[in-house]
Amino acid sequence: MRKKITIIGAGNVGATAAHWAVVRGLGDVVLLDVMEGIPQGKALDLWQSGPVDGFSGRVFGTNDYKDTAGSDVVIITAGLARKPGMSRDDLLAKNVAIVKSCAEEAARQSPGCVMIVVTNPIDAMVYTAFKVSGLPGNRVIGMAGVLDSARYRTFLAEAIGVAPKDVNALVMGIHGDNMLPLVRLANVAGVPVTELLSAEKIKEIVKRTQQGGMEIVNHLKTGSAFYTPGLSAIEMAEAILTDSKRVLPCAAYLEGEFGIAGCFLGVPVVLGNGGVERILEFTLTADEKAALELSVVAVKKQMAATGL
Ligand code: 2OP
Repeated sequence: MRKKITIIGAGNVGATAAHWAVVRGLGDVVLLDVMEGIPQGKALDLWQSGPVDGFSGRVFGTNDYKDTAGSDVVIITAGLARKPGMSRDDLLAKNVAIVKSCAEEAARQSPGCVMIVVTNPIDAMVYTAFKVSGLPGNRVIGMAGVLDSARYRTFLAEAIGVAPKDVNALVMGIHGDNMLPLVRLANVAGVPVTELLSAEKIKEIVKRTQQGGMEIVNHLKTGSAFYTPGLSAIEMAEAILTDSKRVLPCAAYLEGEFGIAGCFLGVPVVLGNGGVERILEFTLTADEKAALELSVVAVKKQMAATGL
């Protein structure tokens, strides 16, 4: 039987995720939004590309959560996006109410699902979904690390002059200005980037990565990035649905790993049918620990602001 993927929010991120989900052959996709007509129209358009692309998945648009029943993966993208001058935290009050209702309704229809949260500020929104959905911590996951690491890898690859896919680099921590692009472990097919680029260039790339979302918001002016955020969510969904045990950086619920407990934060995890099957903990240097602590402080402030 085909897998079922529900995507909540038929805006740019949701529609992009739906596109990648069917093109990658992950299963049938339900696109849900509160706006009448938008999910139906986008889904119909996307479904009709099947004969051209060659995929067999069904794409269905709806405003009714009943149509999402029995989903294997639910991806929440609904919510407001940033505009120039706004931080991700500025979205918190409005998006917490939206994510609360999406997570509650979706979990009621699909109690066995793995839930991926994309709405910003991601680390607080995934906490919100965890608190209201009743799902276990390992089955509620935030998308951010795949996106932030992709930006870091793209900039490193360009500076070194190599294929982006050969750059292995990890961004940990919050999806915000305090995120931690790890320099020590970044490498090109095993060769440390510190041997290939000057310290000054690496510093510049780290800063550009940390501000990668805002760079795009400043160009777009009316919204934020969606191509890589949508694809990143599907990269995670594919690992879960195919039980591939891929290791991807995700906002996972921490219970003492890296000395942090009681919050969601970006760390390398093993993804499979069970959601987060394992967190790959390793020893951080004193500087890395101190940098990660900035993320913890920021995320705990966001969590308090959710009122949950
Ligand atoms: C970004 O970094 C949307 O927060 C997302 O582009």
